[in-house]
Amino acid sequence: MSTTPIEDLAPWTEEQVQAHLRAGKLVEGLQHMSPKYLEGMRRILTVSADTELVSAPSYLRAASHAPALNNFGSAMSIIQDELAHAHIGYRLLGDLGVDMDWLIYERPAPDFKYPYAFDVPLDSWVELVCANALYDQAGFVLLSDVYHSSTFGPWKRALAKVDKEETFHLRHGRTWLRKLVKTPEGKAEIQQAIDWMFMLTLEWFGLPDDRKQHSEQLDYGFKGKSNDALRQDWMSEVVPFMEEIGIAVPAHLDQDQGKFVIDCPFPRRFDEQQRTWHEEISWDEVLKRWRARGPMNREYVQTLQRGYQTTSLRRGA
Ligand SMILES: [Fe+2]
Ligand SMILES: [Fe+2]
Repeated sequence: MSTTPIEDLAPWTEEQVQAHLRAGKLVEGLQHMSPKYLEGMRRILTVSADTELVSAPSYLRAASHAPALNNFGSAMSIIQDELAHAHIGYRLLGDLGVDMDWLIYERPAPDFKYPYAFDVPLDSWVELVCANALYDQAGFVLLSDVYHSSTFGPWKRALAKVDKEETFHLRHGRTWLRKLVKTPEGKAEIQQAIDWMFMLTLEWFGLPDDRKQHSEQLDYGFKGKSNDALRQDWMSEVVPFMEEIGIAVPAHLDQDQGKFVIDCPFPRRFDEQQRTWHEEISWDEVLKRWRARGPMNREYVQTLQRGYQTTSLRRGA
């Protein structure tokens, strides 16, 4: 929880921020922020850091199914990267006046802001490498956009490293998928995983542009592309790859429109116990599911917060 009121931390007016950006300069810290800029930057940074952080317990749980020790090692190095990515985000939030201990270790699980997809458990090695191919690709698309467009200098510069590591994660996924589709059993298992994970990753990019709530993300150059444009970018990477390896996905490139089209109802009702997709629903109903969080939310956050709660470090001593 922030202790100082946002108005006292961010001294600039909207006009000053806009003039600074129009002059082609980056925002380097609180001294260049208006309350609105600060609030928006905190929001997008929190989503990003929470996503990185929760991927660690999610991937760790699945990594226990690694077929061999060296494969477990690869998964652990990905997890280590994710924790470092999370640290970048939280550290920047600390610089923006947010209490980092509260944010990471004391915040209630349902208040974490990562995409709903991570609330659904990954139960096997196959599901882990499918997550690398789909979820890390989503992370790559989103963070590349921030890297190219963000007006917040410290985050922009830090993302040069993050981008390279995300490339390694999604290559890890793709290399495994290429290998596993060679047997009918492997291919069937991947198809089963992609069937529930593909739609969850489509949702990851958020509300369609005509329903988007936080327009300052684009107005202020926090990111460059809209949700729908980013969803297109993700499909342009994932759909051709899945076609190449013979895995069916409910989307295709429409040559006439020059864009990817989803071939099934979207958004849809999701049965989180069976991990199956059903009839088309409204975005309001999707928002309700997101806000309620999914099956693994509490367990994952508890995994991350347990040591803080059980081990006294005499903070500040
Ligand atoms: Fe990451
Ligand atoms: Fe990643």
